Amino acid sequence: MTKSLLRVVVLASGFGSNLQVIINHAKEGKLSAEVVAVVSDKKQSFALERARKENIKAVFVNPRKFADREKFDAALRQEIDSLNPNLIVLAGYMRILTAAFVDHFKNRIMNIHPSLLPKYKGTNTHERVLLHGDGVHGATVHFVTAELDAGPIIIQKSFKVCSTDTAADLEERVHQCEYEIYPRAIKWFADGEIRVENGKVLRTDSN
Ligand code: GRF
Repeated sequence: MTKSLLRVVVLASGFGSNLQVIINHAKEGKLSAEVVAVVSDKKQSFALERARKENIKAVFVNPRKFADREKFDAALRQEIDSLNPNLIVLAGYMRILTAAFVDHFKNRIMNIHPSLLPKYKGTNTHERVLLHGDGVHGATVHFVTAELDAGPIIIQKSFKVCSTDTAADLEERVHQCEYEIYPRAIKWFADGEIRVENGKVLRTDSN
């Protein structure tokens, strides 16, 4: 009997290079998952364009149509529920999710963050790494909780920072880490290898 594919909905606001990597992995059969839709808060985001090119449902939810974050997230939740996903993947989604939204999809939302959390939550992570003269930098995939960039960590990948590195160099190298660890985290989830217990991710290697 063939195993059914994990239904993944990706939320993205921007360029969507992580989205593309995930789509490619799914298409190549490296993940028992399929991206069933890409949802964005930005009409012009290239992520939506990528979805259309791949014949994946592309949904724009316009934040301007809602009075506040709660109402926007309620509409977003309804939209996503109608897609019946097993996992929601944030890939450069630039809005902070409300606690009600996170609660509804508890332990089923993943995010990728361009730093070695708990260091450098929020934005401008590469600049802050340089400012502090850190010797290492990297990326983190974690489950999303109501607290920004603070949920249980699934996987991290780091690299050494060179004295000549600029923020653009770091961004490029962080992206390379992201393209490796995000599909891996999704694979673990799809294969039922990870679960959250007492706020920590536990992994059972099926191989
Ligand atoms: C990534 O660096 C990710 O860590 C952050 O936003 C960026 C998205 O890049 N959350 P892309 O849109 O996937 O190219």
